[in-house]
Amino acid sequence: MIIIKSPREIEALRRAGGLVARFFEEVKPVVQAGNTTFDLEDCAVAYLSRHSVKGAFNGYMGYPANLCTSVNDEVVHGIPSRKRVLQEGDIVSVDFGVICEGFYGDAARTFPVGKTDVVSERLISTTEASLSKGIEACRVGNRLGDLSSAVQEVVESAGFSVVRDFVGHGIGRQLHEEPQVPNFGPPGSGPRFIAGMVLAIEPMVNAGSWGVEILKDGWTVVTRDRKRSAHFEHMVAITEDGPDILTLP
Ligand code: MF3
Ligand code: CO
Repeated sequence: MIIIKSPREIEALRRAGGLVARFFEEVKPVVQAGNTTFDLEDCAVAYLSRHSVKGAFNGYMGYPANLCTSVNDEVVHGIPSRKRVLQEGDIVSVDFGVICEGFYGDAARTFPVGKTDVVSERLISTTEASLSKGIEACRVGNRLGDLSSAVQEVVESAGFSVVRDFVGHGIGRQLHEEPQVPNFGPPGSGPRFIAGMVLAIEPMVNAGSWGVEILKDGWTVVTRDRKRSAHFEHMVAITEDGPDILTLP
């Protein structure tokens, strides 16, 4: 069942989403060569305490941190580590969530560490563009498959591939609600969009092929071919006036 949110609930989700979005402005300068992925986690811990909100991920299904920091061939769910030193040219997906007034905020961005290579730059810009196209499809009367196929089209036209094993999700008083939001699939399929639906859309895009595997830590998802991957995520409310992005600063 897809839970429809009232305008008041959407405003609460926007407050949670805004907190997540403003964190990215704070963490961005910390994503630099010589820092570790745990420096980003430290930044998240300080941010959460300063704003008196709880992180959404720490303890979720046993996940051991407030951030997911996924470097290069890591797709999602990379665990922050004092041993993982960022190098010039790396790319890092930072995924962050909060729970605020009983509602979840969840978003992700991929940052280059200093200057990166042209393929990685294009991988990042394509992933962000695919998310924008997906958001654009969030209109009353469209179907979920219209969103999914819009994302897939942008990615595959650029010669990259869409991860199949992980998807976006509905979000509200739970981090993961129905529906699942795939980044691939045929247009014209799936549930029809209704005003009040709130989706976390999160394309994971691989430079090579779409296959992934999970490392022995039980969390870190990496590409099978060990080529790079990028990830962006926004929360979007479907309204009569069109898509409303809730994870903006
Ligand atoms: N954005 C991811 C998601 O929606 C982050 C969850 S990581 C977890 O699934 F550790 F909390 F599982
Ligand atoms: Co998410």
